[in-house]
Amino acid sequence: MKSPIRVAVTGAAGQIGYALVFRIASGEVFGPDQPVILHLVELPQALGALTGVEMELDDCAFPTLVGIKKGSSDDLQDAFADCNYVLCVGSVPRKAGMERGDLIKVNGPIFVETGEAIQATAAKDVKVLVVGNPCNTNCLIAMHNAPDVPRDRWFAMTRLDQNRALSQIAKQSGAPVSEVKKLAIWGNHSATQFPDFFHAEVNGDPVPEVIENHDWLKGEFIETVQKRGAAIIQARGASSAASAANAALHTLKDIIAPTPEDDIFSAAICSDGSYGIDEGLLFSFPLTTDGTTHSIVQGWEHDEFAQQKIDATLKELREERDTVKDLLK
Ligand code: NAI
Repeated sequence: MKSPIRVAVTGAAGQIGYALVFRIASGEVFGPDQPVILHLVELPQALGALTGVEMELDDCAFPTLVGIKKGSSDDLQDAFADCNYVLCVGSVPRKAGMERGDLIKVNGPIFVETGEAIQATAAKDVKVLVVGNPCNTNCLIAMHNAPDVPRDRWFAMTRLDQNRALSQIAKQSGAPVSEVKKLAIWGNHSATQFPDFFHAEVNGDPVPEVIENHDWLKGEFIETVQKRGAAIIQARGASSAASAANAALHTLKDIIAPTPEDDIFSAAICSDGSYGIDEGLLFSFPLTTDGTTHSIVQGWEHDEFAQQKIDATLKELREERDTVKDLLK
């Protein structure tokens, strides 16, 4: 029997948390022979609801779930102790009338504490995935406040955007989603992100050759992906939860298993300066991994249209970084 790994999930009683923790417990991500101990973390006022989640996890009798620890956001050092993965889902949601900059300022201090606690008590091999929005900049803040945790351990989630884009291209081309590959998200998890159809492939052929309607690719496709989150809120009366949890699990699988040779995955990582993106910025790129070390796919060329899109999302992330500069070390 392998020794258990510890996975912390903040916001574990929230919408995404509820759709996420059962699937982690089931063995879907780490495999049927890998025991897992879940650290479920919530605000003090949500610990009652969290007890309900814990009871339901017990009632699933998952063979791979060998322990549950409940943690309060008041004591993150205890909550993250010895964790190998920290999934930061909890954050303050955007309220009516709030600008993106306001949201960044409200959530920033939470991610200072998160970073400090990860550095203080998490396992030496910890990997961190930030889902709570604005996820790129929240991740940047946490990373800066955990300077001893290597920079290649920090990820902010853009897999949901990638999955949304894959699905749109599959529908438009008539191919199954499994045949759509190399569809990267560049930049921010926001309405400025650039879903890069130029380098994507359907059945090994470039998307711009398979889908001849380039007006659709440059217009409706990009806009649908960029604004999908808002469309779901409009339709469902609540933000994406099952698909977001699915994307978080997908990201973990992307990180821990070698990338298939004919594909890439996207997540925001700490830029090394590739493609002219400021070093240190949390920016989504096309990535591959051997299961241990990930790297940015090199050598993709961008035409003027694509470069303008990348510049726009880069500009937004620079502005976000400037908004939180007091929180960066
Ligand atoms: P929710 O409001 O249903 O749940 C959030 C939970 O986090 C609540 O239970 C709350 O008590 C808890 N929480 C808040 N602050 C916390 C803290 N400091 N420590 C621990 N727990 C805390 O929200 P939902 O729908 O689960 O979404 C969570 C986050 O994920 C939001 O920020 C949302 O914008 C973001 N999101 C990100 C996506 C992405 O693609 N990156 C996609 C969809 C949502």
